[in-house]
Amino acid sequence: MHTVTPTAGNGFQVYLETFGCQMNELDSELVRGQLAALGYRFTTNAAEADVVLYNTCSVRQQAENKALSRVGLMGIRKQESDRRLVLGVIGCMAEREGAGMLKRYPQIDLLCGPGELDRLPMLIDNALKADASVLADRVALQGNTSRRTATLAAAEDNLEMLDLSRAFDPDRATSGARSAYVRITRGCNKFCTYCVVPYTRGAEVHRPPDAIVDECRMLADQGVVEITLLGQTVNHYRYEHGAALTVGGEEAAQVGPGLGAFRRTAPVGARVTSFADLLARIHDEVPSIARLRFVTSYPRDFGDDILAVMRDSPRICRYLHVPAQSGSNRVLKTMNRGYTVEEYLEFIDRARSFLPDVSIAGDFIVGFPTETEEDFEASAALVRRVGFKNNFIFKYSPRPGTTAWDRLPDDVPDEVKRRRNNALLAVQGEVSAEVHGAYAGRTVEVFVEQISQQSAARTGNVELGWAPARVQMSGRTGGDLITVFDLPADVSAASLIGRVVPVRVTGAGTLILYGELAGVPAAC
Ligand code: SAH
Ligand code: SF4
Ligand code: F3S
Repeated sequence: MHTVTPTAGNGFQVYLETFGCQMNELDSELVRGQLAALGYRFTTNAAEADVVLYNTCSVRQQAENKALSRVGLMGIRKQESDRRLVLGVIGCMAEREGAGMLKRYPQIDLLCGPGELDRLPMLIDNALKADASVLADRVALQGNTSRRTATLAAAEDNLEMLDLSRAFDPDRATSGARSAYVRITRGCNKFCTYCVVPYTRGAEVHRPPDAIVDECRMLADQGVVEITLLGQTVNHYRYEHGAALTVGGEEAAQVGPGLGAFRRTAPVGARVTSFADLLARIHDEVPSIARLRFVTSYPRDFGDDILAVMRDSPRICRYLHVPAQSGSNRVLKTMNRGYTVEEYLEFIDRARSFLPDVSIAGDFIVGFPTETEEDFEASAALVRRVGFKNNFIFKYSPRPGTTAWDRLPDDVPDEVKRRRNNALLAVQGEVSAEVHGAYAGRTVEVFVEQISQQSAARTGNVELGWAPARVQMSGRTGGDLITVFDLPADVSAASLIGRVVPVRVTGAGTLILYGELAGVPAAC
């Protein structure tokens, strides 16, 4: 890699589009901050950009196809345009595909994996300044070094700097700049047999608790009131003090011990920050965070200590996103999930005994190799038994490089996957309607996010002669239930966005609560 100092922002316009999960959304925010600090400007119009970046997801083929179709279209635009246009593919797909992607799609100028984003400015700089022909000038990927701990430590130091140097930009944030993500763990050590994430995001690495708390405080100081902590198996967070290298006296990010940590006790005298400790610290040390949430929970190793902290901390949301993936023990075993249906249910019952109101969401995969009709029925039964408020339901998508890809033929025909997908969605629909319906007559606390989209569409047409409709606001309860309510005539929408307000629920749809404002906070 050339050691050119990346100062070349010079007002170049960047278009950045994000696919995939919240980790990618956060990465895009960090990239934006990093590039803006170097003088790049951002545009929402790809046609006027000098640099087009796609932050990609590899979790299913469909996610990759979306990004590839954008790459195809941008390739045509590049050919037709007479000015220099840099096209970069960043994120999980860049990491999974590797440098070979440049040969298959010659219109791509640079590739940068999620573990190398601190090197992105250099890659863009190289691409803007010259026709970089040396591969190392165009590609930053962890490749198979991502699980070698010696190199990992060095790479993580730089990545940690990227999180730490976070320039939260209230103008670009959603929910009136009141909601933000904070990463606590990178990577994943679980290796579920279908999943590409351990390969694209690398080994599990835990950030030092002080850095996390500082970041939450910094966000709170900028007006953020809702923080969502991110990790692939967020409850596995565990930091052993004194065990990691220090950088300038600070604690460094720490390679996770994986599941082993939950089977052994910490060395005598070692001070450990568990996930429960971390939640309690953020809750107590940053009281202006009105809502503290976390995703994604893993159904194993979720101790009573975490549930007790949730119960005792009013500003921690009564919400768990805890994917079951299947209701069949045989399928769960083939997926390498490491728990049985009975253990999953034991956790749900335990969670409800601590938090009677907790709202439970999850993910299911249908059509996993060897899944029979009976296995599928077991998933449907689990959806009913748990009473999930919602589930993301996915058709199994074989991912190159995973164990399932190598060892298990994708033997459930697509038409069967589609049928099971629709059938499970229908079951979930009934369950969601019951869960939402049970809120009628209750008063819930709603974090107001925006003017409801339907309402915005209607009021936007006022000048076309349409009857001015009433304005409706939308937001979410602590349990993540979408709630819509009418804006009273004497209250402005802007004064409510980003606030937590009481709403009396008057009715419910399958995935939505309807209600009316039950009191406006004095400051509105
Ligand atoms: N770490 C989280 C999940 C991250 S991936 C967890 O373990 O729960 C998000 C979801 O995508 C998964 O929960 C799973 O339901 C789905 N998924 C992952 N790989 C998939 C694949 N190959 N095919 C279909 N769905 C998949
Ligand atoms: Fe993928 Fe499993 Fe890790 Fe979740 S826990 S990211 S599904 S390997
Ligand atoms: Fe996709 Fe990578 Fe997230 S594969 S789901 S963007 S961790």
